[in-house]
Amino acid sequence: MANKIESVKAVKGMNDFLPADAERWEAFEEIVRDWLRSYGYRPIRTPILENTALFCRGVGEHTDIVEKEMFSFDDRPDSKGNTDNLTMRPEGTAPCVRAVIEHNLLFSQPQRLYYNGPMFRYERPQKGRYRQFHQVGVEALGFAGPDVDAEHIVMCARLWDDLGLDDVTLEINSLGDAAERARHRTELIAYLEAYQDKLDEDAKRRLYTNPLRVLDTKNPDLQAIVDGAPKLMDYLGEESLKHYEGVTALLREAAVPYKLNTRLVRGLDYYNRTVFEWTTTRLGAQATFCAGGRYDSLIEQLGGKAAPACGFAMGMERVMLMWTEGMEDAPMVTPDVYIVHLGELAGRVAFRAAEQLRSAGLSAVYHCGGGSFKSQMKKADASGSAFAIIVGDDEAQAGEVSLKPLRGEGEQRRVSLDALAEELAEMLYGE
Ligand code: HAM
Repeated sequence: MANKIESVKAVKGMNDFLPADAERWEAFEEIVRDWLRSYGYRPIRTPILENTALFCRGVGEHTDIVEKEMFSFDDRPDSKGNTDNLTMRPEGTAPCVRAVIEHNLLFSQPQRLYYNGPMFRYERPQKGRYRQFHQVGVEALGFAGPDVDAEHIVMCARLWDDLGLDDVTLEINSLGDAAERARHRTELIAYLEAYQDKLDEDAKRRLYTNPLRVLDTKNPDLQAIVDGAPKLMDYLGEESLKHYEGVTALLREAAVPYKLNTRLVRGLDYYNRTVFEWTTTRLGAQATFCAGGRYDSLIEQLGGKAAPACGFAMGMERVMLMWTEGMEDAPMVTPDVYIVHLGELAGRVAFRAAEQLRSAGLSAVYHCGGGSFKSQMKKADASGSAFAIIVGDDEAQAGEVSLKPLRGEGEQRRVSLDALAEELAEMLYGE
């Protein structure tokens, strides 16, 4: 016996979305598109591959993402033998900013933008954490005031409400500006140095490169040390405090509850002032399903003319896990009609009728693959359509079809081919 050929499997941490799931994703994406439009955001699409330097400079050399999570590789050499190092985008903010600079979009006015697509991080996969995952990201570029930070948070709250997600918590913090962070950093390092021998490897490594991230440790042994550490909030100057108060005043105005978490820092280096995270207890360890904040220096840092900005991104897998919990398994999208046919002439007439229906704006599934009348009717029923159209040679010769309701009341009856689309549209949509 010949050896069975081994099948090729999907890459670890990268998921297939089968029709039942993919339909839900599409339904979710439609809700999200309407929601973004209602706030005046416009779409932007950037490539999945970028030059690695973009993320090193944008996200930060000493972040987990850049240090250990990027899918990077050397491109093929060009005609002069030079190669570029490319990275599959681990996030969408730096690419969005790159595109805005490259195409001079901030030339005459600020921009409200969004994107939706796959991101890649080499993380240990588990529920809610994957190597290919998807984000809906929102960026507002060229706006300095606290109102736009608040707009982002309030729009999130509206979406969770529209989706019926409860059990969500908003944590917010201010990271101040560069000078305020520098002063805090000096004192934080001095404080942590006093505990050098108690710090774990991660904390030791970050002590001088990214001490703020030490505050973010999940290690329970370090909690007491971290609790006593100098708080960045206490180093904020007047302007930063005013900004923070401006954001929170609007949150109160919109009745969006928030918790100040003075230890909230983010895994990406570009933030200043407002940072926020939406968490839930429904996702186990991957509690944060949406996060963002202000990044006033990033545009300049990536070579553009200095302009303030802020934004956020939600992890779609995480939001989908919450939204679809308990949802029925039935198909979300069903055709208007399923077309059953027996005989050669009937097959041709039915094929033409199907196209006529689609021209009239109806959805029709034409049965392919033959089979008995009974087995075709079973498929019609399983399709979830409201009607079956039945064409036998008899009907075909008369220029008619039989229309059979599959759900609820009603008798099977003959309808002429010419009147079919109109009658169906009337019955289905009252048009
Ligand atoms: P982030 O916090 O790195 O921020 O990611 C945003 C969200 O993406 C997370 O809260 C999480 O829900 C989801 N996410 C991240 N990694 C994974 C993963 N491995 N598997 C599944 N979901 C994941 C950013 O990416 C920033 N660019 C957000 C932003 C936009 N800030 C300003 N503008």
